[in-house]
Amino acid sequence: MSLAKVKSSTVIGVNAHFIEVEVDVSSGLPSFTIVGLPDTAVQEAKERVRAAIRNTGFEFPIGRITVNLAPADIRKEGPAFDLPIAVGILVATGAIHLTEEMAGAVYVGELSLDGKLRPVTGVMPTALDLRSAEHPLLVVPWNNYCEAAMVDDVEVFPCRNLHEVAALVNGHYLPERPVVDTASDEDSLVGEDFSDVKGQDAAKRAMEIAAAGGHNILMIGPPGSGKTMLARRIPGILPPMNQSEALEVTRIYSVRGLLADNSSLINKRSFRSPHHTISNVALIGGGSYPLPGEVSLAHNGVLFLDELPEFKRDVLEVLRQPLEEGTVTIGRVAGTISYPAQFMLVAAMNPCKCGYYGDHTRNCVCTPAQISQYLNRISGPLLDRIDMHIEMPRISEEQLMGRPDGEPSRVIRERVCWARSLQQERYSGRKFHCNAKMDSRSVRKYCQMDKEGSALLSRAMKTLGLSARAYDRILKVARTIADLDSKDGLEATHIAEAVQYRTLDRRYWI
Ligand SMILES: Nc1ncnc2c1ncn2[C@@H]1O[C@H](COP(=O)(O)OP(=O)(O)O)[C@@H](O)[C@H]1O
Ligand SMILES: [Mg+2]
Ligand SMILES: [Zn+2]
Repeated sequence: MSLAKVKSSTVIGVNAHFIEVEVDVSSGLPSFTIVGLPDTAVQEAKERVRAAIRNTGFEFPIGRITVNLAPADIRKEGPAFDLPIAVGILVATGAIHLTEEMAGAVYVGELSLDGKLRPVTGVMPTALDLRSAEHPLLVVPWNNYCEAAMVDDVEVFPCRNLHEVAALVNGHYLPERPVVDTASDEDSLVGEDFSDVKGQDAAKRAMEIAAAGGHNILMIGPPGSGKTMLARRIPGILPPMNQSEALEVTRIYSVRGLLADNSSLINKRSFRSPHHTISNVALIGGGSYPLPGEVSLAHNGVLFLDELPEFKRDVLEVLRQPLEEGTVTIGRVAGTISYPAQFMLVAAMNPCKCGYYGDHTRNCVCTPAQISQYLNRISGPLLDRIDMHIEMPRISEEQLMGRPDGEPSRVIRERVCWARSLQQERYSGRKFHCNAKMDSRSVRKYCQMDKEGSALLSRAMKTLGLSARAYDRILKVARTIADLDSKDGLEATHIAEAVQYRTLDRRYWI
């Protein structure tokens, strides 16, 4: 009977923190104490570890068992410590012997009462952050293998149960590996294609601009005009994610436990479409056992808010930080946690309560007062963070019956990539890398208009009564239009088109 030390890990936010599990078994009145875990989790871990050790055919020691999870100041939650605690007890009682090599490994996994290992969340961040270790070895539940194996330079040992872990530690392990399916071809990156969308050329053009500059966009149109259809196709025209973007996203899904058993790195941009009844915690993340929310699941992808006026008004309060900073910070008793949340906001709404204001086939039954009341439900400050608003009328019956005639997403994506590459170069070394994120000083610097453009914009400001805040938004969007056009300076046509994307300033907003 003696002291054993086993390494483990816990994930806070999306980063791994390595934990040392110390187990002391000594003679005395039987007791089992775990320090360093929250109350309820301790109780449950004890029962699982005790049953798993017995049901694997080992003896559970009769005596004083003390488990310490160090360092004490790191918050530890979740069932992933079952495995290192069980291994620690078996080593301390001499049932198994840790070789020097396996003493350096990190162990994570939940035990079931019969000794099977259940998958846990956050394995991928653990593997990623283990890369800098001297001997990066990781022992994980079988069903977490693919997640861990995405990370190069870490040796991963998948085990089905405590029995296999014991064999591994003792040097009798057959290094069997699940098959990893890493097939990914370019077409699978696209999914639903823009070529399915008939007509709607203006809306498609607006989507291309939004994607090219990273602009948030709002679509206004009656039911059935294809708003959802278009939104779902935006991830497919964004540039493919690079390796580090894909790793960031995969980390988040790992922490949420959303990676499929046999998954590989997520290389498709997310499309998240939370319902308007969603709670603030589910949207933004947090909770008593904190998890990333929808805004983080949309990281590097699209957050689609359908029926925008139906969302609670305070949704802006919640979205403000991610929209401005690209992260969310969640305050807790034990310190703050932050999750990445850099997404493109795509929103949709009907023009009025009944949905048919301005429609050519059905009459709107709303009064003017009702219409403006409906529009006023979106708070000004939220609207203020949306660069582009467009109207989407329904396409005609004939058009809908006709053949799809649109450009495929692949072709649109090429133009988007080109425009993005110009921005990347222009903003290299800066905090932002797309037009939508320019601060107002950069707008002055990079959005120089020619004479004609400048005259046109001041005319538009006056005649359309555009607000000062619309001014910068128009310039940013015009910058993107000029990039798509491969022009350095902003010309009148670029400005004129950008003004078109301020529908709400021009028509409804009061
Ligand atoms: N421009 C279009 N091209 C092809 N199909 C369309 C188009 N607009 C609408 N549809 C059809 O109508 C359905 C409803 O569109 P949807 O995107 O749900 O509309 P909305 O979200 O504006 O209510 C789509 O699934 C699609 O089948
Ligand atoms: Mg819809
Ligand atoms: Zn109406």
